[in-house]
Amino acid sequence: MTERTTADTEQSQPNQPSIEGYRERYQRFTALPASGRSREEVLAEMTEIASLEEGRWRQGYASGSVYNGDPDHIAFLNDVYALNSQSNPLHTDLWPSALKYESEIVAMTATMLGGRDIGDGPGSDSGVAGTMSSGGSESIALAMKAYRDHAKQVRGITEPDMIVPISAHAAFDKAAQYFGIKIVHVPTGPDGRADVAATAAAISDNTIVIVGSAPSFPHGVIDPIEELSELARSRGIGFHADACLGAFVLPWAEKLGYPVPGFDFRLPGVTSMSADTHKYGYAAKGTSVVLYRSAALRRFQYFAMTDWPGGMYASPSFAGSRAGALSAACWAALVSIGEDGYLDATRRILATADSVKEGLDRDFPELEIIGDPLYVIAFGSVDPDVDIYRIFDVLTGLGWSLNGLHRPAALHLCITLRHTSPGFAERFLSDLRASIAVVRSNPSAEGGMAPIYGMANTIPDRGVVFDALLDHIDGWYRMT
Ligand SMILES: Cc1ncc(COP(=O)(O)O)c(C=O)c1O
Repeated sequence: MTERTTADTEQSQPNQPSIEGYRERYQRFTALPASGRSREEVLAEMTEIASLEEGRWRQGYASGSVYNGDPDHIAFLNDVYALNSQSNPLHTDLWPSALKYESEIVAMTATMLGGRDIGDGPGSDSGVAGTMSSGGSESIALAMKAYRDHAKQVRGITEPDMIVPISAHAAFDKAAQYFGIKIVHVPTGPDGRADVAATAAAISDNTIVIVGSAPSFPHGVIDPIEELSELARSRGIGFHADACLGAFVLPWAEKLGYPVPGFDFRLPGVTSMSADTHKYGYAAKGTSVVLYRSAALRRFQYFAMTDWPGGMYASPSFAGSRAGALSAACWAALVSIGEDGYLDATRRILATADSVKEGLDRDFPELEIIGDPLYVIAFGSVDPDVDIYRIFDVLTGLGWSLNGLHRPAALHLCITLRHTSPGFAERFLSDLRASIAVVRSNPSAEGGMAPIYGMANTIPDRGVVFDALLDHIDGWYRMT
């Protein structure tokens, strides 16, 4: 892929717009306007808002978030979206194209993830099977629901449990809560990888699935998927490899000669995977793929109802009507980028990540990288005078949008194509150096996220912190 750099080259500190700012600056609606505004006016206002928000992600100040962001790529996806904006995969008679795009996305992803030689290959009744979903969380939830219903029917398990490393994405806890599955968390070692012995010890007669990440969201490290999936296989239990972050990077990293341990369907114990097309697949937000080793397991994901007055009803995922245009744009992303494009993108991302990691190791004795990550780089402070959350605050003030982690206290930077312009690593390391200097020169500064993170970590009553999180979401919708 070629990269057209426009705003990328502007290194000035980006805008930091806020919802409060928008509420002051633009008319607010708590009811429909009595008569509609002109399209020109609506477009002008929304164009202005989008341009206020563009700088931070386009110039590479965001961790993850926008994985491609090249203006030509975005324009291409927008064209494809526009062509297909009325498509709804629920109405296959009207839009058979949605079936073509979705089945091919699933098959291409399965082939990339080691499914080529299983049965008669992806797309066949005997091969790796899957469906589209709206994102990583939905792919994970769909797989957990499938395991629950499969275990109930095949093994008679009515009180299921699932074994999940603490580093796995919160979507697993969400699924456990939604579907009434007991979740058993297992610890990770100092390198951030799931503890295999603890996993083995946690298995019960009711265990329906064991989980591993490739790589994990917090620390970007790949769990020992080979050992974990073998453990699951030897006990007749399912194993889900969450490759939401890694599916479209690790196969190419492996080809480039980076050390990538087994993580996909080439391991016989891996029975399902989640793979986010809307991350490193470079599709627009709103698509992901969930895959199963067999079509038989996939059937437990589906919903079907034979006696509804509204007609025969069946759907593969949680939504009813869906945006077929997102699947069309996803298909267009995959086939326009191709193997050579993903290989090239991965090469650039990993080279940038190597520069950032080398800089951190070489020039920042007060910081320590957690584990041995490839491209999601988490680091904490080993100097009691340098509070990592204060660094977080100062970096945020400079326009950065990193991810704050806890247990242990750390930050992470998820490297994307937005970070591969020349000079990015130097810019990040230089802002980091400046932030540490600010923190050292003013150790008792107040405000920002540092006290909130510090306090939220130490409050023994987790119910208080839980309620604060719900209050926070209430705030998103409050207009008074
Ligand atoms: C490893 C991993 N799994 C699952 C998810 C959830 O994906 P989504 O935010 O698309 O629901 C993420 C998101 O970052 C992730 O990193």
